[in-house]
Amino acid sequence: MSEEDYRAVYQRSLHDPEGFWLEAARAVDWDQEPSRALDGASALISKWFPDARINTSFNALDRHVLAGRGGQDALIYDSAMLGIQRHYSYAELTDLVARFASVLRSHGVDKGDRVVIYMPMIPETVIAMLATARLGAVHSVVFGGFAAAELASRIADAQPAVVVTASGGLEPSRRIEYLPAVAEALRLADAGSTPVIVKVRDGFEAAAGGSGSPYESWRDWDTEMLEAGPADPVPVAASDPLYVLYTSGTTGAPKGVVRDNGGHATALMWTMTNLYDIHPGDVMWTASDVGWVVGHSYIVYGPLLAGATTVLYEGKPVGTPDAGAFWRVVSDHRVRVLFTAPTALRAIRKVDPEAAELAKYDMSSLTTLFAAGERLDSDTYHWAGRVLNVPVVDHWWQTETGWAICGNPRGLEPLPIKAGSPSFPMPGFDLRIVDGRGDRVPTGTEGNIVLGLPLPPGTLMTLWGSDERYISSYLNAFPGYYTTGDSGYVDEDGYVFVMGRTDDVINVAGHRLSTGAIEQVLAQHPAVAECAVIGLADVLKGQRASAYIVLKSGVHITEEQLVKELVTMVREHIGPVADFKQAVVVDSLPKTRSGKILRKTMRQIADGHEYTVPSTIEDASVIDSLLPILRMPR
Ligand code: COA
Ligand code: AMP
Repeated sequence: MSEEDYRAVYQRSLHDPEGFWLEAARAVDWDQEPSRALDGASALISKWFPDARINTSFNALDRHVLAGRGGQDALIYDSAMLGIQRHYSYAELTDLVARFASVLRSHGVDKGDRVVIYMPMIPETVIAMLATARLGAVHSVVFGGFAAAELASRIADAQPAVVVTASGGLEPSRRIEYLPAVAEALRLADAGSTPVIVKVRDGFEAAAGGSGSPYESWRDWDTEMLEAGPADPVPVAASDPLYVLYTSGTTGAPKGVVRDNGGHATALMWTMTNLYDIHPGDVMWTASDVGWVVGHSYIVYGPLLAGATTVLYEGKPVGTPDAGAFWRVVSDHRVRVLFTAPTALRAIRKVDPEAAELAKYDMSSLTTLFAAGERLDSDTYHWAGRVLNVPVVDHWWQTETGWAICGNPRGLEPLPIKAGSPSFPMPGFDLRIVDGRGDRVPTGTEGNIVLGLPLPPGTLMTLWGSDERYISSYLNAFPGYYTTGDSGYVDEDGYVFVMGRTDDVINVAGHRLSTGAIEQVLAQHPAVAECAVIGLADVLKGQRASAYIVLKSGVHITEEQLVKELVTMVREHIGPVADFKQAVVVDSLPKTRSGKILRKTMRQIADGHEYTVPSTIEDASVIDSLLPILRMPR
């Protein structure tokens, strides 16, 4: 534990950001040390460490080898799907990354170029990310549960020099063939000539390079690696982008969150020590997917920057093979900190309510369970604490912020935990609760959660290709503040409570989805005149998408057939991850006089909350006729 307490550290970060972050930056190895922390403090778009140079891949790998830790495990691949475990030392991982970097270079990847990575949870995914970073290039990882059209929109926006993929991913019920999806995405994005490198996995139909195959010109990872020598890390400006990660906004077009190199490394290093209490040699396991921000920050970069050991788990919390899967991994690899989403804990609890599986495993290494991705409900919080007998720490963050806005800093000063709260703001996050006009609300009153500018290092710099969209999405609503899109309140002890989104973003099983994007797909069905998608409360997945459809007049289709077709369309256009299963035909949708659908009112009714009908409603009787449908038990 540090000598300073949380409150002093937090205040210092706000009053002296220069001093605070320059000091934190000492935990990172720079090619050129920063002399200043922040450039453009009063500008809307600011830069951290403007005169510094760095390579993130060097910091995550080589420097630990140089410090004599080359023999230590950097990454443990544990595939419950295949029943295998593989250990990679820092020396081995550095060598593989350096060689794959030269493979990328041989295909034209240079500093600043983008590399799209569409891969499952295998070590090569981490290697591809770190190899891209080694060249000073910019990776954009796309989650494997997204369909070709979603991959295509990301490829079209990022314009990659190379796409890296694998034959496919393993889901308990099926194998997911990736190559047809990549081919389709390249076609849709009009990027057919982009070089593609494929890590071939056993058991998939499609392989690269086979003569006569549609993938004939694609390159085989293993063959390319045979001849590759190591590439050295390329220093870049601290404010150059490390990655672009697309996330759902309120419209269909995903937003490319841009992360820098220097601020990111500095902030993550701060969290490893002060938030997670993870040090060189410790084992951290983040049970998420590298396709999400949580995976970027705490499967890949955080643990490796800190010289810890990270676990890459290919499997599920239940069914691979049973509800003891997580405990088996903790016990096999002596995991000190486990980080997962509440939905995973609820999935385990549903199958094994008393956590009887735990008795089979040695859990003595586990010190803390961290949760994020969605609100940690009190029931799940109490259950996890009781069965695991370790502190359960909720922390709240977003793709945009890259690390926790609020948390309980276990390494700095473990603070008492309140169920339902992610505790306190982390350094640099000047958190306020404001009403619609931007005025602060009294303690205990719910409002919009906003963050004073500038945001701390490691948070988004802008949106890829569009400073205007960045400003209009996040900075215009409350001048001087970043709008989180979440609502919440602060209690009399200063604990923050995050209640849910204020926009049309929903959270299904810890996966962030845009209802607007689902609506766009549904609207393409020839029978659909208009539709509204809302997120309904779901005991297992937190929320699930539910669609309300108005049919075109004169259309004859049974509701059953329509739902079947709509489900298929969402699966094909967005992907299985949307988990879209529910649609109801209604006569009309409630709207304001200007034509805006009253989704919030619909959501309030469906969740059995008190609801408000705006005075601008066009026809109040529509609400009356919808009441029984929205309140139908589902
Ligand atoms: N590739 C292809 N399909 C995928 C996929 C992937 N990487 N991940 C999920 N899917 C599919 C599933 O197979 C399922 O398909 P189905 O409808 O045919 O059954 C569908 O998408 C819905 O998946 P999901 O809602 O994730 O359910 P699940 O049973 O597969 O997994 C959890 C449940 C709890 C393990 C999973 O939702 C999870 O890990 N959530 C946490 C997410 C997270 O880490 N968020 C970041 C914050 S920590
Ligand atoms: P993502 O960008 O996918 O990480 O999703 C971010 C959103 O998930 C946030 O804006 C919140 O709505 C929600 N979220 C993430 N973590 C938490 C948490 N600990 N408590 C409440 N909501 C959370």
